[in-house]
Amino acid sequence: MPTCSSNAALSQTTPSPFPRSRRPTRADGLSESILQDWQTAMTADGTAPEPAVNHEDGLTIVHHPILLQTGCLACHGDPASIAPEVAQKIAQLYPADTATGFAVGELRGAFRVVFEQE
Ligand code: HEC
Repeated sequence: MPTCSSNAALSQTTPSPFPRSRRPTRADGLSESILQDWQTAMTADGTAPEPAVNHEDGLTIVHHPILLQTGCLACHGDPASIAPEVAQKIAQLYPADTATGFAVGELRGAFRVVFEQE
């Protein structure tokens, strides 16, 4: 996990309810339940996900939603509209890639920042 200061760590998580991935999933139960709650509220009435702050085992854990934006479509959009050279490179580097076919506004995961409480 990359460290951004002496007592904080940043990671990205796209848990199993969000299956179309380019990388194996990296999620724990907390991330999984936060993402589920965000997705349920978005599906129910379009509620925009808000960052979530939790405290667990002497740690402060912040989850910030990752939402698909227009620029992301260049690599995660409809496969037919991805530039051939980009599609080729992704196929070469990520042969098991399924992270395409997304639309703007879809929830794609969370950035997670973990701080030690002092
Ligand atoms: C230039 C191509 C490109 C663009 C543009 C791009 N991505 Fe990605 N994305 C990738 C690649 C390649 C990976 C796999 C990276 C890895 O595993 O190291 C990836 C991985 C991810 C992942 C990790 C989980 C998964 O599905 O593999 C998420 C979430 C993600 N991208 C979201 C986004 C979002 C949101 C945007 C726009 C803000 C975006 N990406 C823009 C190429 C791109």
